[in-house]
Amino acid sequence: MTKEKSKKREKKMRIIVLGGDGYLGWPTAMHFARKGHEVVILDNLSKRRMEEEVAGEPLFRRPTLQKRVRLWREVKFGREIILPKLNVLDIASNYGALLDILGEFKPQAIVHYAEQPSAPYSMISCARAVNTEVNNIAGTLNVLHAMKNVVPEAHLVKLGTMGEYGTPDIDIEEGWIDIEHKGRKARMLYPKQPGSFYHASKVADSVNIEFACRVWGLRATDLNQGVVYGIDTPETKLHPELVTSFHYDAVFGTALNRFIVQAVAGIPLTVYGKGGQKRGFLNIMDTLQCVEIAVMNPAKEGEFRVFNQFTETFSVMELANLVSRVASKRGYKVSIDHIKNPRVEKEEHYYNAVNSALFSLGLKPHLLTEEVVDGMMQKAHLAVKDIDLSVISPNVFWRRS
Ligand SMILES: NC(=O)c1ccc[n+]([C@@H]2O[C@H](COP(=O)([O-])OP(=O)(O)OC[C@H]3O[C@@H](n4cnc5c(N)ncnc54)[C@H](O)[C@@H]3O)[C@@H](O)[C@H]2O)c1
Repeated sequence: MTKEKSKKREKKMRIIVLGGDGYLGWPTAMHFARKGHEVVILDNLSKRRMEEEVAGEPLFRRPTLQKRVRLWREVKFGREIILPKLNVLDIASNYGALLDILGEFKPQAIVHYAEQPSAPYSMISCARAVNTEVNNIAGTLNVLHAMKNVVPEAHLVKLGTMGEYGTPDIDIEEGWIDIEHKGRKARMLYPKQPGSFYHASKVADSVNIEFACRVWGLRATDLNQGVVYGIDTPETKLHPELVTSFHYDAVFGTALNRFIVQAVAGIPLTVYGKGGQKRGFLNIMDTLQCVEIAVMNPAKEGEFRVFNQFTETFSVMELANLVSRVASKRGYKVSIDHIKNPRVEKEEHYYNAVNSALFSLGLKPHLLTEEVVDGMMQKAHLAVKDIDLSVISPNVFWRRS
């Protein structure tokens, strides 16, 4: 690491984590606080309500946000995490309060996780599609306007998704593409082909953020994140109640997490369709690392920067085989079932996405080894009696027939 980079890392920042009660937001808040940064959390707790709505409770019991923040203070592993008086704040509908908090705290970085994150949830019904798009797009628009009005120098680090690009038959670049058309050349936003109304909301966010950077001179990094797996980070391991949410159900669970729970529960791993769907994946610890890299190396004034945030690419079938191999070694009887794909997506396709920007800024990946899978399995095993088998089979279909 160069001297200049290590100096940047030592700088202490004021950081707001939007969506700080979530799977990624809570570990991110602890990670920054442990490093001595000043961290404020905002969340509207909508995810907890949606979990009840679809019976998608996380596997490990997770205390309230207030209790976790209190506990963090008691374990004294870093700076206190600040919950403002109005900590249950809906950024999509309460622009005034968001403006007040940004104006008062004056963050240098805003890490924005506060969105409805599930593709299946957005495909349940018209109402859920509308909720997802209004919540996500309006929330981000409010953040952009509040930044412009009270903290125009702050850096927005926004979580997007690799699912914005879809699976085109050409290489996926990092946000931008140089194209030549009828003899003329231009650098344009990479064309997007979202796979659900949720992914479509992220595409709209990217367009709005790029516009705000270009026109108002804001600075932003759009992290097009792959699928995250993992249960623990160094901070969640400090106390059992500092745990983060871990979903394995068909609406909120991601592929690897679901396969692990299926293996531990002794039921077949369910691969959607042929299983040739390839995606970028990353360990939750690398989410924290990537977000930290983005925060500590801010975009320039007026810059809309896009990083593809994943460390490895796997097909769904490769993941199922990996879990099955590790589970067999542990003595679990595992089989793999191919079930009807509830989504409309290519099941065999070309996939080559660039992800060099974060590596060039110092990302050191935690790769998906058998040991990592085994560790997750052992942890999931501790809660085996709490696994609800009825929530695992897909019950949301992209189209009826
Ligand atoms: N987990 C993944 O694999 C993954 C992959 C790619 C991208 N992402 C993105 O990363 C972000 C975080 O994902 P996650 O898995 O931690 O999701 P999560 O649902 O666990 O966390 C999101 C948090 O934001 C809060 N929230 C939602 N809307 C809000 C609003 N209007 N105002 C205030 N708070 C609000 C929720 O209550 C929740 O606590 C999301 O934007 C998601 O789309 C996640």
